Amino acid sequence: TGVTLFRTHILYWYDQGKRELPWRTVALTETDINIRTYAVWVSEIMLQQTQVATVIDYYNKWMKRWPTVQDLAAATLEEVNQMWAGLGYYSRGKRLHEGAQKVVSELGGEMPRTVEALLKQLPGVGRYTAGAVGSIALGQLTGAVDGNVTRVLCRVRAIGADSTSPAVTEALWSIANTLVSPERPGDFNQAMMELGARVCTPKGPLCTQCPIQTLCHSYRKVSIKQEENSTKL
Ligand code: ADE
Repeated sequence: TGVTLFRTHILYWYDQGKRELPWRTVALTETDINIRTYAVWVSEIMLQQTQVATVIDYYNKWMKRWPTVQDLAAATLEEVNQMWAGLGYYSRGKRLHEGAQKVVSELGGEMPRTVEALLKQLPGVGRYTAGAVGSIALGQLTGAVDGNVTRVLCRVRAIGADSTSPAVTEALWSIANTLVSPERPGDFNQAMMELGARVCTPKGPLCTQCPIQTLCHSYRKVSIKQEENSTKL
């Protein structure tokens, strides 16, 4: 079916050309679920308002200084702010610190283990971040709709309506939750983000390089227009 093809094509593309990012390696190789969840949480908070290329160094330094949620909880806010210097939006670092202290003092040092728990227990973690951490670190079967994924889905399904409206937001989450690969939810969601960042770009999308071109309603519309034009010529 279309859904199966969509998963196969985008995951094949991701496996061929994905960027090796440190938090991806942790998600796939770290056997300690608490460390894995902590690491992906840190990466997703950093990535909220900062580009991947900038985050890499900050993430590596952070994880070297505070390898576990317990280490972060024991730090001072001043140390956290120093480490955050240059990333901007300092409240993000503060929330990581607060979250770590909550995990240690209220949750027995155990990071939340489900999307619902992530959303409820961790300050600064909204629907997108909970979906990303839940799928990438915990293998939870959920979509994760950020700005890039919103653009990809609106194009694939030719949704022209305002994507910030509550109705369209709900529809996009519903589509994402249907499409996500049950075998590899984290890789699938990261493939969607990566497709939006590198191929399905805001301006001048590289449709000829797109793994889901044949399943994309926007692309089909363009192709049909081109075909119509060429018949006339
Ligand atoms: N942006 C947010 N999360 C990301 C991830 N896991 N990989 C790449 N870009 C991202």
